[in-house]
Amino acid sequence: MGHVTDRDGERQAGAAGPVPAHVGIIMDGNGRWAAARGLPRLEGHRRGVEALRRTIRAAIELNIRFLTVYSFSTENWSRPAAEVDDLMFLLKRFIRNDLADLHRNDVRVKVIGMRDGLKPDIVGLLHEAEELTAGNRGLTLVVAFNYGGRQELASAVRRIAERVRAGLLDPEAVTVETIADHLDTAAIPDPDLIVRTSGEQRLSNFLMWQSAYSEFVFLPGHWPDFDRAALESALADFTTRERRFGGSQAEAALQVKTAL
Ligand code: FPP
Repeated sequence: MGHVTDRDGERQAGAAGPVPAHVGIIMDGNGRWAAARGLPRLEGHRRGVEALRRTIRAAIELNIRFLTVYSFSTENWSRPAAEVDDLMFLLKRFIRNDLADLHRNDVRVKVIGMRDGLKPDIVGLLHEAEELTAGNRGLTLVVAFNYGGRQELASAVRRIAERVRAGLLDPEAVTVETIADHLDTAAIPDPDLIVRTSGEQRLSNFLMWQSAYSEFVFLPGHWPDFDRAALESALADFTTRERRFGGSQAEAALQVKTAL
């Protein structure tokens, strides 16, 4: 899934080349943005939420079908309690303030990550966002919250093992698709492009399985400064990449042709 950009992924007026169907973003650098200005880290995260709003708007305008944002990783719990509280507060405020607007814009919200360990009010809001927007057909906004790729894989393996123990699944029948179908992202195509801000060049436990054939774009700017122009520059970089999915150049061309 998600290996090629389909007709729905064609760019809108004025821009060149196809847009990726699914873009994942590692929103990094809020703290450094704040530190560079002598501001508290919370201010960096606040401005990060504004950058997220701009990015969602741009993704809709650019006809991106799926946007996954890494909002809180399973490792983020190791930050000072006050910062964890701030991030929880910002998520709640984001959903309370922006959900109606997202819904009006036909955005479907999907949350991936573990609900265990989250406070009931957060779990309730995540559920409300998914329920309200489940029937929408525009951009799918995937919020990775309390998410870790290894944890997601472990949980998928546990559920597969349970099905084997119950006699519902033959171990010989476990395929790549079986695993993909047990991940939080089961109905979501793999990301074509993963963007990380702030200059770090690593995945940090984000969509580990799903990114097997993703293209990566690393941008030097910090997340609070991210905007439509930054997204467009990442998309422009993406269009120059030749995606082979492990095959030869000719096969890759054929794959794209078949999809169109
Ligand atoms: C990285 O900055 C960003 C995060 C830890 C999470 C991203 C959070 C937001 C964009 C704001 C919250 C939004 C929602 C919807 C919850 P960093 O703190 O790691 O920056 P640093 O590496 O410069 O310290």
